[in-house]
Amino acid sequence: MKPLKPLSVYVHIPFCEKRCGYCDFVSCTQTQDIDQYLQRLCAEIRAFNFHDYEIKTIYIGGGTPSLLSPEQLKMLFNCLPQCHGEVTIEANPNSFTADKCAAYRRVGINRLSLGVQSFDSNTLRVLGRLHGVKQAINAIKLAHEYFDNLSIDLIKDIPNHAFVTPPDAVLNMIQHISIYSLTKNDECVLDTDEPVNLPSEFERYEVSNYARKGYESRHNMVYWTGGEYIGFGAGAHSLLNNQRFCNSSEILNYKQQDIQTRTQESIRHEKIMLGLRLRSGIALDLLKGKEEILNLLVEHGLIKLTTTHAIATEAGLKVLNQLWLKLV
Ligand SMILES: C[S@@+](CC[C@H](N)C(=O)[O-])C[C@H]1O[C@@H](n2cnc3c(N)ncnc32)[C@H](O)[C@@H]1O
Ligand code: SF4
Repeated sequence: MKPLKPLSVYVHIPFCEKRCGYCDFVSCTQTQDIDQYLQRLCAEIRAFNFHDYEIKTIYIGGGTPSLLSPEQLKMLFNCLPQCHGEVTIEANPNSFTADKCAAYRRVGINRLSLGVQSFDSNTLRVLGRLHGVKQAINAIKLAHEYFDNLSIDLIKDIPNHAFVTPPDAVLNMIQHISIYSLTKNDECVLDTDEPVNLPSEFERYEVSNYARKGYESRHNMVYWTGGEYIGFGAGAHSLLNNQRFCNSSEILNYKQQDIQTRTQESIRHEKIMLGLRLRSGIALDLLKGKEEILNLLVEHGLIKLTTTHAIATEAGLKVLNQLWLKLV
């Protein structure tokens, strides 16, 4: 028998109670269409042949997956393959209840990612969020009762709104934090870079991600280390058999599009960019012929070298695109 190939699964739930002005993810507020969408989504999942694969991780992202009722969630998981690894769902504090937590556990979800965005009430208002700080903290407390692998999302570099470090009581309940720099719709990062000070047990293992030891996001590590994944739903991306493809973003009528076969050169370029973002760095065999520029970057304190890897320093993480251009 042929050994099973590792695969991760992403499922996109493109519905939100309200669209946040800053957000570019595929989503809409027509929540009355969720059942119809799930029919299409389940048909797409059932049509995929999972036989040759061992499912390493599943990630239910959005949009706002916590808008799904326990029945809708059950319907979705009935058509997903078994996964004995990490199974994550994203939730918003304002659509998150004890009933839903219990339903998540029943279908095998073992990791929760809560979109908190800020611990400052004014910032939440400016971002147009439907929840306040107190509701976010209550959601974290509730999630902590059900999950021992809990992540929160925060946003920094918001003009005129300083980043607020999560209170200790929150840090004690969570294992992982994603802190994204606010991007505008054109995807360019604003030119501030607020420092983040977290207790040392949260290691910055990727440029925007901090985790306690052993709680790094396994699903995202698949993206960041070039592993294969299949995405289902509107706007979902896939990397399978060395081809990248994505679904279009028409929510009730999405179709597979844009198949690109990766070349050796594009794989190397991707690996260098991803490696720059990771604490583990870039394998030195990808940088053959770049010794002179590497030494210069080391002298400038932007890169440090181990015997096997080149790793961006804190200063280097601030200028990732420039480093990438020098190293490819
Ligand atoms: C796919 S979104 C879904 C999260 C969830 N719906 C929520 O809003 O809480 C995942 C994360 O992306 C981040 N995000 C969305 N738009 C962003 C932007 N323009 N700049 C930086 N981070 C952003 C937010 O932190 C958000 O929690
Ligand atoms: S940030 Fe979350 S809730 Fe807001 S529009 Fe994006 S996906 Fe929806």
